[in-house]
Amino acid sequence: MAAWRNRMWANAVLLFSWVVLCSSVCVEVPSGTEAVKGDNMTLLCISCMKREEVSATTTVRWFYQRDDGQEVLIYEYDGRPQEPKSPLQGRLQWTGSKDLQDVSITILNVTTNDSGVFTCKVNRTLDFKAHRHLIQSNISISLKVTEEAGEDFTSVLSEIMMYILLAFLTFWLLVEIVYCYRKISKAEEVTPESVTDYLAIPLENKENCSVPVEE
Ligand SMILES: *[C@@H]1O[C@H](CO)[C@@H](O)[C@H](O)[C@H]1NC(C)=O
Ligand SMILES: *[C@@H]1O[C@H](CO)[C@@H](O)[C@H](O)[C@H]1NC(C)=O
Ligand SMILES: *[C@@H]1O[C@H](CO)[C@@H](O)[C@H](O)[C@H]1NC(C)=O
Ligand SMILES: *[C@@H]1O[C@H](CO)[C@@H](O)[C@H](O)[C@H]1NC(C)=O
Ligand SMILES: *[C@@H]1O[C@H](CO)[C@@H](O)[C@H](O)[C@H]1NC(C)=O
Repeated sequence: MAAWRNRMWANAVLLFSWVVLCSSVCVEVPSGTEAVKGDNMTLLCISCMKREEVSATTTVRWFYQRDDGQEVLIYEYDGRPQEPKSPLQGRLQWTGSKDLQDVSITILNVTTNDSGVFTCKVNRTLDFKAHRHLIQSNISISLKVTEEAGEDFTSVLSEIMMYILLAFLTFWLLVEIVYCYRKISKAEEVTPESVTDYLAIPLENKENCSVPVEE
């Protein structure tokens, strides 16, 4: 179930990102929350800028909260990426954008231990002539990592449908080949020899059979 939904999510997110990239419009897409052990999981955090924020300075902090409730700083982007010592050290990758509207990170090779709440905190400082203005946003993602890709009814059903379709197509192709082969053989019996044999096959046959004739 997780894998299926995750793939759907990944596709949806990809499509969204593509649309966003193409139109260069920022859309605050929520992150996926389910991953399968061993996958790379992108924790999506998008904090769109408004027009007046274009000349802002952005800093990002990612926190991880274990079951005991304590928040641990796992990643910091303050002009450049920094990875403090944490249980996730070495497995984090910056996947945000240059303009820092997308401040996502990716956890490589997730373990079931990585389940928990991840929070991305964004500070955006606007420098106006007279004063500075700080905008904060916190986005929390409740990540659930499962041991195995569970099979969901929909995915099982679509798999079965795929096999039935494949079997049917194979069968149909075989029937078609045999039918065409017979037709060609018959036509050859009527006018044997000579290279012009093939040309002698009634037009109807040639149209129906695109299978090349070989001796
Ligand atoms: C995860 O990302 C790493 C580095 O980008 C890559 O080498 C690896 O193949 C990825 N693994 C999966 C399961 O996608
Ligand atoms: C954002 O600003 C607040 C207040 O100045 C500070 O406590 C916090 O650490 C800052 N967060 C980031 C991500 O820089
Ligand atoms: C992923 O993590 C597991 C356990 O932490 C480790 O055994 C495995 O080698 C890792 N896989 C990759 C591709 O790094
Ligand atoms: C999972 O977390 C526990 C407790 O924090 C730790 O002792 C253990 O080594 C962790 N396992 C992995 C594979 O990271
Ligand atoms: C984000 O979290 C910080 C504490 O880490 C808090 O001071 C701040 O008010 C929060 N901001 C929002 C918008 O919830």
